[in-house]
Amino acid sequence: MSMMKVPFLDFSPSHSEIKDEITLAFNAVYDSNWYVLGNRVSAFESAYAQFNSTPYAIGVSNGLDALYLSLKVLGITQGDEVIVPSNTYIATALAVSYLGATPIFVEPDPRTYNIDPLRIESAITAKTKAIMPVHLYGQCCEMAAIMEIAERHRLKVVEDNAQAHSATFAGKPTGSWGHSNGTSFYPGKNLGALGDAGAVTTSDAEIAKKVKVLRNYGSQVKYHNETIGHNMRLDELQAGILEVKLRHLQRWTVQRQEIASWYNELLNRVGDLILPYVHPDATHVFHLYVVRTTKRDALQQFLTQEGIGTLIHYPIPPHLQEAYKHLGHAKGAFPIAEEIASTCLSLPLFPGMTFEQANQVSTAIKAFFNK
Ligand SMILES: Cc1ncc(COP(=O)(O)O)c(C=O)c1O
Repeated sequence: MSMMKVPFLDFSPSHSEIKDEITLAFNAVYDSNWYVLGNRVSAFESAYAQFNSTPYAIGVSNGLDALYLSLKVLGITQGDEVIVPSNTYIATALAVSYLGATPIFVEPDPRTYNIDPLRIESAITAKTKAIMPVHLYGQCCEMAAIMEIAERHRLKVVEDNAQAHSATFAGKPTGSWGHSNGTSFYPGKNLGALGDAGAVTTSDAEIAKKVKVLRNYGSQVKYHNETIGHNMRLDELQAGILEVKLRHLQRWTVQRQEIASWYNELLNRVGDLILPYVHPDATHVFHLYVVRTTKRDALQQFLTQEGIGTLIHYPIPPHLQEAYKHLGHAKGAFPIAEEIASTCLSLPLFPGMTFEQANQVSTAIKAFFNK
């Protein structure tokens, strides 16, 4: 097989088609004489709020800060417990730890990889204050069941919507279910800035106001500081870029879903591959196309030799990270998360990826299993 390389992620197809629009947005900010928290941030916040079906979106510095601020305004504090999935990027748990609260890990449904609603209740204690569903890889969690459990136990819900802009459950978008929700616009996300950026989304005017104050030094009126705040602001340049990219997101999402459907067909019944499963009431926006195989490491190595980029999301679950040693979870404590971590592999998928590229990836995978 002498073929072209297929990178894991290539920004050039999507970025080249919007370069003129981005240049205009850059020039508008450059010439405006105003670079942090201004008209472009407000305009993007309105556009994103509308897109997300929430009355409020508040632009912040990054996804981790969006999660942290959400938990903070909901009153999560020292000694509280917050339920998080055992298989997530560590940021979800870190936001909890920043407040002196403890992340309580709950195993995912092994089919969807999202937190299993049936396992949540047995993790609830007198100290539990919130649940953080993570819409992993781009598929919306079973939000109806999660909200019902939260209401019954009077818990707050903070969705981690870093990976699933515009995914839905029962037709309702991610980031519009919880009391206060965080999203990331890290460059590789479905909606990505050209640097760090994030947002909090909420339907609660009081929460929105508190987040706005906290992101900007605890201040509404310049030099009047009502609370111990942070500098977690979104800048004008990133907001201007995000505003342009948001206009193209729906089209790019459809492309992602089409590429996923190519893979689904090309990789059907190949080796011991487990392909993505989509819950019948959920939509999946394929931030990542993740397959599983017992031969993961060998397959990854083979694909690397064939010039095909892959990544592992994520190789070590949070409970086994050095950073969380103090929680005392041994290997084997969360076997589903550990099994996913040792078998998952993310294949190349990005807007503008061609059928030839997906076919080349699939052909290489078939060659590996036929060896
Ligand atoms: C699931 C999840 N949560 C939170 C984050 C944190 O976002 P950021 O990198 O913008 O802080 C990310 C991405 O990095 C993520 O994938």
